[in-house]
Amino acid sequence: MKKIISLAKRRGFIFQSSEIYGGFSSCYDFGPLGVEMKNNIKRAWWDEMTKNHDNIVGLDAAILMSPKVWEASGHLTAGFADTLVECKSCHKRFRVDEIEGQGRDRRGTVPKCPECGGELTEPRKFNLMMKTFVGPVEDEAAVTYLRAETCQGIYVNFQNVLNSMRLKIPFGICQIGKSFRNEITPGDFIYRTREFEQMEMQWFCKPSRINTNLARSASRGSLTNKSRIENWTLDEWFDYWKEERFNWYLKLGIKKENLRIREHKKEELSHYAVAGADIEYKFPFGWREIEGIHNRGDWDLKNHSKFSGQDLSYFDEETKEKYIPYIIETSGGVDRSFLVFLIDAYEEIKGGRTKTTKATKEIEILLKLDKKLAPIKVAVLPLVRNKPELVKKAKEVYKILKPYFVCQYDELGSIGRRYRRIDETGVPFALTIDFESLKQEDLTVRDRDTMKQARVKIKDLVKVLKEKLEN
Ligand code: GAP
Repeated sequence: MKKIISLAKRRGFIFQSSEIYGGFSSCYDFGPLGVEMKNNIKRAWWDEMTKNHDNIVGLDAAILMSPKVWEASGHLTAGFADTLVECKSCHKRFRVDEIEGQGRDRRGTVPKCPECGGELTEPRKFNLMMKTFVGPVEDEAAVTYLRAETCQGIYVNFQNVLNSMRLKIPFGICQIGKSFRNEITPGDFIYRTREFEQMEMQWFCKPSRINTNLARSASRGSLTNKSRIENWTLDEWFDYWKEERFNWYLKLGIKKENLRIREHKKEELSHYAVAGADIEYKFPFGWREIEGIHNRGDWDLKNHSKFSGQDLSYFDEETKEKYIPYIIETSGGVDRSFLVFLIDAYEEIKGGRTKTTKATKEIEILLKLDKKLAPIKVAVLPLVRNKPELVKKAKEVYKILKPYFVCQYDELGSIGRRYRRIDETGVPFALTIDFESLKQEDLTVRDRDTMKQARVKIKDLVKVLKEKLEN
């Protein structure tokens, strides 16, 4: 992790928030490369949801909502709380689930502080919602909360989206946005923070009861032949989305041996879930959740109907039945995926890949990011910088490519050094302008992973690079 954190800072991916003031605990800022990569992750997810799947539409709801939303969702009650113990000597706080198994006594309690061995307080519940005030008067009437999950904005807009888009069940609504949780023990760099981004999709489907009725009607011959997918049960959708989401990480280059799906035990289910599973990644600090897939049953729409007094049911034209749709949710973290993509792409090559005498003494860092996620797509490099004609040509090429790709121009240091620098930030293609380029109007395109170089005419560059980046 130290190496990843150091690379992230050195190369402009991630900085500590408010660093000049000594930092602000568990908050991070994404630098020039970080914001590009983060946008690429979000774009890849958005495209996956809205282009690679049928019947999913997007939404961008406000972070601040009526506090009633959080009453209805169960987040203001004990449902959304961590159990916390505090050390009576060093006053460090721990989540009980975090220190379970460390120094338990025979009754299963954790009697000692894992840091200093001091006595711990009795466990107590700690709500994770971040409180704020809306308007000039800071009284109880002005209290609201920074959202703790983006999906609540989707549920409260269920009828708006359904009516405006004339959707038919099953369908999905997806959203990307910031969420806030007053985590007791943030840590592991950007793994657990108090401000983070989520990518959530809520899949609205028929309750199993309707499917059973449908099957009965179908066997009586009163229904036209329906494609089976529309009548999938909740369990079938749950399995489908687990697989789809698992495969998304694989498609973006995560090594299969570093990923697994872990089903939730009954006692660890969130307050809203009937069933749940985590997609976990093998971090340097152990297997941890990166995305949750939940069967939320009718918890959300039923409660929002009850608390708002609005009927949030759906009328099924086919069965002529009215029902509250059931929900399968996929809920991933942008920041956690970012960390996963960074860690999984990171490679160290002792002695470097080019065997010059200098290089053999060093460790080369290669960031094998998927081309879709790489923050900078193309680097433009004059072979040497003390030849004005090469520099001029390289700048011309840079100007041609800039409107199409996120490009970088670099003339500082030897060409070998510059290749190293761009490999470290995962740039898929490096273009070198050499003396031949001046005569032939071409340049070399170097592939980050194979280091193979091929000459390409400058006039064909945009087309060739587009093809290379898309494949
Ligand atoms: N709507 C359901 C929900 O929010 P969750 O399992 O609490 O479920 C989903 O969170 C995902 O959000 C997690 O898998 C993780 O990627 C991200 N996430 C949750 N808390 C986080 C935190 N404190 N810091 C960073 N990411 C977090």
